[in-house]
Amino acid sequence: MHIDAIRRWARAAFASALLAASAAACSPPITVTRPAPRRLAVRFEGARASLDLGPPLDPSEADCGACHEAAQRQWERSLHARAATDGVFAAAFRHEPRPSCLRCHAPRGDVARGVDCETCHVREGWVIGARRREGSPHRGPVDPSMATVDACAGCHQFDFPDEVDLGLEPSNAAMQITLTEWVASPAGAEGRACQSCHMAADDRGSGGASDHGFAVMGRPDMIRGAVAFDVEARAEDGATVVEVTLRAHDVGHAVPTGDLFRQLRLRAEASDGARVERTYARRFAPEPIRGHALFAALRRDAEDERLFVDEPRRERLRFAPGVEVEVTLAHLRMPAAVARAIGVAAAVNETPLYARRVRAPDP
Ligand code: HEC
Ligand code: HEC
Ligand code: HEC
Ligand code: HEC
Ligand code: HEC
Repeated sequence: MHIDAIRRWARAAFASALLAASAAACSPPITVTRPAPRRLAVRFEGARASLDLGPPLDPSEADCGACHEAAQRQWERSLHARAATDGVFAAAFRHEPRPSCLRCHAPRGDVARGVDCETCHVREGWVIGARRREGSPHRGPVDPSMATVDACAGCHQFDFPDEVDLGLEPSNAAMQITLTEWVASPAGAEGRACQSCHMAADDRGSGGASDHGFAVMGRPDMIRGAVAFDVEARAEDGATVVEVTLRAHDVGHAVPTGDLFRQLRLRAEASDGARVERTYARRFAPEPIRGHALFAALRRDAEDERLFVDEPRRERLRFAPGVEVEVTLAHLRMPAAVARAIGVAAAVNETPLYARRVRAPDP
């Protein structure tokens, strides 16, 4: 499906929201001097509800980028900005085009803007932040939860679309479980929010402001920094034994986290052509739903073989004696076969992380 088709989907899904918005646009402009509500509505409910930003912003506040240049520039390059236009999403959406996808990938119904400033920062007609900054023209309430995982939770943990679209009871598995992983991680125990790693002020002249690039894909250094990789070879019982140790550290969730298809792929190839492969991913098993004969494919968490912080994973791989073995580790957005099937190029899908050559020392 071409991007225009995605736009048509978006228009269909959000026709009612757009109607509501245009009706509101006809009412007299609201000035930022009106009294702010004491409490704001729930931040974001992922796919389960449409996003309602309330009355239109004061026109003087509407062009965020005019005053927040750095945030604007960083956001423009982010996957949040391209959440509904990036090729990988577009390929998957073509395969499974559900309106509920766009509730998160373009919550305001504007495919070209994806997850934009307003999605995160505007509620009930007010610009909101975790605290009031010096010189701020904004007059709405502050919302301390912007500095917590609540700002991310509704989109980064959610149930399978069947459950959302059919109103079924949530299963014991969710499509993404980054929040659950965070709660169980040392970062969760210390209350270190997602922002502390994903929005840490960069040193590219941002003047200490939060980084709005949220970048992980296209940053092998960041993924590499979260996985220690150790490879040793030795001669044992007339074979070459390669021992690989993987350990997740300095990360606030499993590695990989996020999209259900993400995986780490370990590959060992010996000079005689022998090859071993392991993947670390979530694996799902279909389970029938009572009373829903048509929808028997609801997925349940069968196994979770990803890396968890400070729980090292050891693999012992056996090869012929005397061979040299090349061991590589890569991050995959989705299994190679799925990428091929939906037309995502291997170079886009795979981020190489490590490559080591080892040979057992002579005994
Ligand atoms: C006319 C200039 C201007 C416009 C337009 C503007 N801002 Fe601001 N904003 C500021 C200034 C100045 C501050 C305080 C200093 C800073 O943080 O940059 C601020 C502060 C903020 C803060 C921190 C909380 C606070 O109130 O101090 C947030 C969040 C924010 N702006 C978001 C936005 C968003 C989102 C938009 C667009 C919907 C926007 N701003 C439009 C000038 C503007
Ligand atoms: C995915 C959610 C998200 C998006 C999209 C987003 N922001 Fe933010 N923004 C945050 C969070 C979280 C903070 C940190 C908490 C705080 O200080 O309010 C923040 C902080 C800010 C601040 C306060 C100053 C600072 O840097 O800490 C400004 C100003 C701001 N954002 C402007 C923008 C603008 C302009 C856009 C669009 C170009 C934008 N934001 C898009 C989540 C978002
Ligand atoms: C409105 C929904 C929404 C909210 C709120 C949201 N995100 Fe996202 N986020 C997304 C979507 C959708 C993507 C995937 C975009 C894609 O890859 O097409 C994403 C991607 C990401 C990525 C991966 C980017 C990359 O380069 O791989 C990170 C990291 C991230 N978000 C962090 C956060 C954090 C931290 C917060 C809270 C401050 C947050 N998000 C709030 C929807 C959201
Ligand atoms: C202690 C630092 C830290 C904290 C806290 C943290 N992250 Fe991450 N995150 C990372 C690192 C490092 C990576 C790259 C390794 C990886 O992909 O797991 C990452 C990757 C990601 C990705 C991309 C995963 C992929 O493979 O597509 C998403 C999405 C994400 N984080 C969301 C979140 C959310 C949401 C939270 C809060 C609930 C959070 N992170 C908390 C460090 C952190
Ligand atoms: C509740 C919010 C939500 C819903 C609903 C949702 N997604 Fe996502 N999606 C996300 C977030 C958050 C990420 C980022 C996770 C990461 O980076 O690993 C993401 C990532 C993805 C990715 C990976 C993109 C990349 O850059 O590699 C694809 C593909 C995707 N979603 C497709 C879909 C499709 C198709 C649907 C509908 C069937 C859908 N999503 C529904 C929140 C959502």
